[in-house]
Amino acid sequence: MVAERILLVGGKGGTGKTTVVISLALHWAKKGKNVGILDANLSSPDVPFYLGLPAQGVEALSDGVEPLRPVEGFEVLSMGLFLSNPWTPVSWRGPIRHVVLKQFLQNARWGALDILLIDLPPGISEEHMTLSHLLSGRAFVLLVSDSSRLSLMEAKRLSTFFGHAKITPIGVVLNKERRKRPRHSDPKILATLPFDQHLARASRREGAPLLGEPAEAFTNALGFLARRCLKAMQEGPKRPLTLQARLLFKGG
Ligand SMILES: Nc1ncnc2c1ncn2[C@@H]1O[C@H](COP(=O)(O)OP(=O)(O)OP(=O)(O)O)[C@@H](O)[C@H]1O
Ligand SMILES: [Mg+2]
Repeated sequence: MVAERILLVGGKGGTGKTTVVISLALHWAKKGKNVGILDANLSSPDVPFYLGLPAQGVEALSDGVEPLRPVEGFEVLSMGLFLSNPWTPVSWRGPIRHVVLKQFLQNARWGALDILLIDLPPGISEEHMTLSHLLSGRAFVLLVSDSSRLSLMEAKRLSTFFGHAKITPIGVVLNKERRKRPRHSDPKILATLPFDQHLARASRREGAPLLGEPAEAFTNALGFLARRCLKAMQEGPKRPLTLQARLLFKGG
């Protein structure tokens, strides 16, 4: 198995999946864990931009591909590393996506990882089906949402999908929250991450998350989220997953 624990991160487009993946990875790497990021967003691979990672060229995309190690204890694999430039369109049909993701997951030379974070594309597509098939019964999923009902509905949809595929949904993280009072009392919300000015600027400048720190409010909330994720992953699934998915969204 690639890693002790595997956490997929999904949700509606633009809600902050990649930001949450990178923030959690940096947090856990700082705590001494060996963390990997698999960027499963093959068509819009944003992880290299956020981390300021250079393209390796398509020749590096061989069997036994090497993840990049930008920071101690931190490995990254992304389609974006193999494109000659970031605006190259990746317009593959499902079967090719399936093969490439399978290679990234199973044939790459990952180190001994404590946690592998998988950054999903928005919605439910081939990437979701491939990964849920390959990781059935062995992985968890965190849903990222903002406070809009549409985005929460997408989280609910994804949670049900993954629950059926035996990928354990551990809850929803409400991101970019502008309200002062977080909604930790809501059972379906695992944690709330505030809107942060530093993170808001991260999509304008390559490598920004490595260059500065978000405000304390975000860092504290992220620490809380990281602990809740670890706890959920240590406990593992206790109830039938479809029931867990239903409870998670009771009344939502
Ligand atoms: N907590 C936050 N505070 C402020 N801005 C944020 C926060 N989280 C994410 N952002 C910003 O929101 C935008 C979308 O973030 P991100 O790219 O992580 O979303 P995504 O869900 O991965 O998008 P996609 O669906 O395209 O993959 C970016 O500009 C990012 O900098
Ligand atoms: Mg993304």
